[in-house]
Amino acid sequence: MDELQEKGSPKSVILKELKNRLQKDLTYNSGKNLGSMCAYPHPFAKQIYAEFIEKNLGDPGLFPATAEFEKEVVQMIGSLLSHPEAVGHIVSGGTEANILAMWAARNQGNKERHEIVAPESVHLSIEKSADLLNLRLIKVKLDDSFRMNLEEAKRKISAKTCAIIGVAGTTGLGVVDPIAELSEVAVSNNIPLHVDAAFGGFVLTFLKELGFNVPDFDFQLQGVSSITVDPHKMGLAPIPAGGIVFRNPTTMKAVAKRVTYLAGGETDQTTLLGTRPGASCIAVWALLKHLGRDGYRSRVKRCMDLTIELADEIEKIEGIGLVARPTLNMAGIESREVKVEALAGELRKRGWAIALFPGYIRIVVMPHTRFGHIEDFVKDLKNTVKKLRGR
Ligand SMILES: Cc1ncc(COP(=O)(O)O)c(C=O)c1O
Repeated sequence: MDELQEKGSPKSVILKELKNRLQKDLTYNSGKNLGSMCAYPHPFAKQIYAEFIEKNLGDPGLFPATAEFEKEVVQMIGSLLSHPEAVGHIVSGGTEANILAMWAARNQGNKERHEIVAPESVHLSIEKSADLLNLRLIKVKLDDSFRMNLEEAKRKISAKTCAIIGVAGTTGLGVVDPIAELSEVAVSNNIPLHVDAAFGGFVLTFLKELGFNVPDFDFQLQGVSSITVDPHKMGLAPIPAGGIVFRNPTTMKAVAKRVTYLAGGETDQTTLLGTRPGASCIAVWALLKHLGRDGYRSRVKRCMDLTIELADEIEKIEGIGLVARPTLNMAGIESREVKVEALAGELRKRGWAIALFPGYIRIVVMPHTRFGHIEDFVKDLKNTVKKLRGR
């Protein structure tokens, strides 16, 4: 048990303790972290974040310049998603972004509309949203390619539906739901379609520009009303930096609350949080300006090239296989011969941080992942599978 001491300790003593104790945390450059969707932040973003740490986006009257940067970040992200006029916010992460989207959709619809329709692969944050907002989450089964089953989705949509949710880069496999078809359904039923591109938002457009065959998922599709896209995942921004962008200001304003007590004067707040870290947003702004499309595209290419190499190697290992060929920089490993839980356990014993999903192990290849890390992982994977198969 720790307690607050009467007298403070010198900085050097505290720093020493911090450095010592934090050694337990896995570092990104160890290459052992193949299970997280968060990126090691770009050094420039880290520098900017530290420099403007005191900014509070919750009081835009006091920090008008910071609020302008938020608008510009949203416009830049909007332009990446085919709608530079987008409005929205830099928030704490994909969870908050999804909650905001569901909150706006619920408030915009009439009182009879209290159901949301989402694929079984939807992120947990949509379940949290349903719980918090008193919405009924109706899950739709997946098809053979792990995408939301369109016909079943159509059957489950009704006059009670206030939002359809499609995922552009599922948490487990990085799969993209049939967003174009869902958009048509959304338009013809006059229901907003929310796209959760928390991970895929900073990948898919660049993959398309690189010539990969990726489906449409953004505001080009008329039914898409809002998109979650997280700078602290493939955007390389420091945590916390999630993003929510809306096609129309009226959707976002459906959650507006008047705040009267702020030092900078009254404002309409359209976020869940009050006080918000302006430094996160300024760091994202700086990073988008610094890297440009070209900077992101080259990083996405590296990640995807490495993912394809990893996928090819996995397919060569007897006893395991890929759940599906990767769409994004993620790969799922399954097996009919060994238990994936046992495989994950053995790999973790060897220091690998990997994510376990029902029936498969997920590997995420992030910009901090190097070729050597993948080589080492494949070696350990081969040996572990061999050991578990008993040969
Ligand atoms: C598709 C998707 N949406 C939302 C989230 C939640 O993001 P966060 O952990 O930043 O709240 C995740 C996280 O993995 C995700 O994969």
